[in-house]
Amino acid sequence: MSDSQLLSGPIGVFDSGYGGLTILDGIRTLMPQYDYIYLGDNARTPYGTRSFDIVFEFTLQAVKKLFSFGCPLVILGCNTASAKALRSIQQQYLPDNAPDRRVLGVIRPTAETVGKLTRTRHIGVLATEGTIRSESYTLEIQKLYPGSVVVGQACPMWVPLVENGEADKPGADYFVRDSIKKLLEKDALIDTIILGCTHYPLLMPKITKYCPEGITIVPQGEYIARSLEDYLKRHEEMNRRITRGGTCRYFTSESTHKFHECASIFLKEEVEAEHVCLI
Ligand code: DGL
Repeated sequence: MSDSQLLSGPIGVFDSGYGGLTILDGIRTLMPQYDYIYLGDNARTPYGTRSFDIVFEFTLQAVKKLFSFGCPLVILGCNTASAKALRSIQQQYLPDNAPDRRVLGVIRPTAETVGKLTRTRHIGVLATEGTIRSESYTLEIQKLYPGSVVVGQACPMWVPLVENGEADKPGADYFVRDSIKKLLEKDALIDTIILGCTHYPLLMPKITKYCPEGITIVPQGEYIARSLEDYLKRHEEMNRRITRGGTCRYFTSESTHKFHECASIFLKEEVEAEHVCLI
């Protein structure tokens, strides 16, 4: 099939809920020229505590929906979906069902970045229980930077705090301090910490408050954006297929009213969402 016959359309960004808006924000800031579609599976969030099979099933439904909207390229802007579903989608679904489309995740680009930032080669990962259990960061970092020590800490309360608009309230301090303390107690040589969940940048003021000086904290939005820019430079055939109108549409599997209210916490701007059924 020649390039001109291949479908053109927006970049799709998927997340289990609102967190992927921090990834979308990073990408749109760097590449405002493209069209985007954001899809949040808010009706079934959180994914962090769900099994591999369920995360795969839900993520595949979302990817199919974004394909049906015409996206040639989909970013899983969710660590849990990237950890638990990306490989199966790339290896089992795409080759037979959508060989001309691409689905990319957030773990590899983050792993590439962190290896360039650490000096001690001791890296901490704060993420959902599902991402930590999958050991995706450990495997990816050690593949890219053999000899690195990767230590994870699940933060089960952080997503609910953000989702419920409690990120800047005093009640969040205990949970942020506690998870960071637990992580650093496991390995005192950690000098770089990945925020391996899209919601966590919203807790940044408290994270920096409770992280000892000298530790580099790595939020993902900016790094994922740079990695995607690099990918599109290296894949000119895909780059040509992304439409350029500077638009962004938002879809949610939950109430559009709630999305409108909550998305502004993540984006600091008002957005109108459309409802979508993923089943
Ligand atoms: N957005 C998800 C992530 O980056 C966290 C939210 C959830 O548990 O669904 O891991």
